[in-house]
Amino acid sequence: MIKLQHIYKIYEDEHAKHDALNDINLEILEGECVLLRGHSGSGKSTLLSLIAGILKPTKGLLEVDGVSLSKVPDDAATLFRREHIGNIFQKYNLIEDLTVLDNIITPLIPTDLSYSDVLKLADEALEIANISHKKYNLAKKLSGGEQQRCAIARAIVNKPKIILADEPSANLDLNLTMEFIEEMKKLKSHNKTIIIASHDDLLFQSKIFTKIIVLDKGKISDIN
Ligand SMILES: Nc1ncnc2c1ncn2[C@@H]1O[C@H](COP(=O)(O)OP(=O)(O)OP(=O)(O)O)[C@@H](O)[C@H]1O
Ligand SMILES: [Mg+2]
Repeated sequence: MIKLQHIYKIYEDEHAKHDALNDINLEILEGECVLLRGHSGSGKSTLLSLIAGILKPTKGLLEVDGVSLSKVPDDAATLFRREHIGNIFQKYNLIEDLTVLDNIITPLIPTDLSYSDVLKLADEALEIANISHKKYNLAKKLSGGEQQRCAIARAIVNKPKIILADEPSANLDLNLTMEFIEEMKKLKSHNKTIIIASHDDLLFQSKIFTKIIVLDKGKISDIN
């Protein structure tokens, strides 16, 4: 479960202070599929970064799968992220000169798993993301859709319970967005908790979401 109570995030430097999130209260249950909507600058990416343990809230209680992320030190947050979170980035961040397989296993490098266990996990992720047939191809030789599936495989290889995606369809055409939605449906059927930040109307209309949260200037303006 993801629990946020009275969460504030204030970005501050010597010149200015900015309230990016302002008293957010929210609960997301295991297996939910959540869409975060809101204008540019409303705080969507900030909220995802808090849940991923990349940023710490300025104030408030943030608990993800029983771990109090608002309290743990940074190295514990990093460990938490490695084990619990799969991130799908807007631009995929694949390493072009590596094969699909090598890209997918990068999140497992810091673990002490044996290489045969790593390969087993990679094969499962490749299968779920439907990209097994390109396992030994270089990432730079993949089509847009294949790159997307490779990025999804990398996000799920460590079997995280929570998948976060920030504007995943920003660079996708209609067909690839529809493919992405199908992939998310599949992850949902694996009981992953999925949170997607997007202003894409296609995603909004896709009916895969159990909850739609609208942010406005750092506050939740609508939730249903
Ligand atoms: N590192 C930072 N330092 C200062 N202000 C920041 C920083 N990151 C974000 N902000 C500010 O916090 C607010 C929320 O930013 P955030 O990136 O979370 O919005 P967003 O909803 O994801 O926007 P977009 O749709 O454009 O991606 C914005 O006003 C932004 O300018
Ligand atoms: Mg953003």
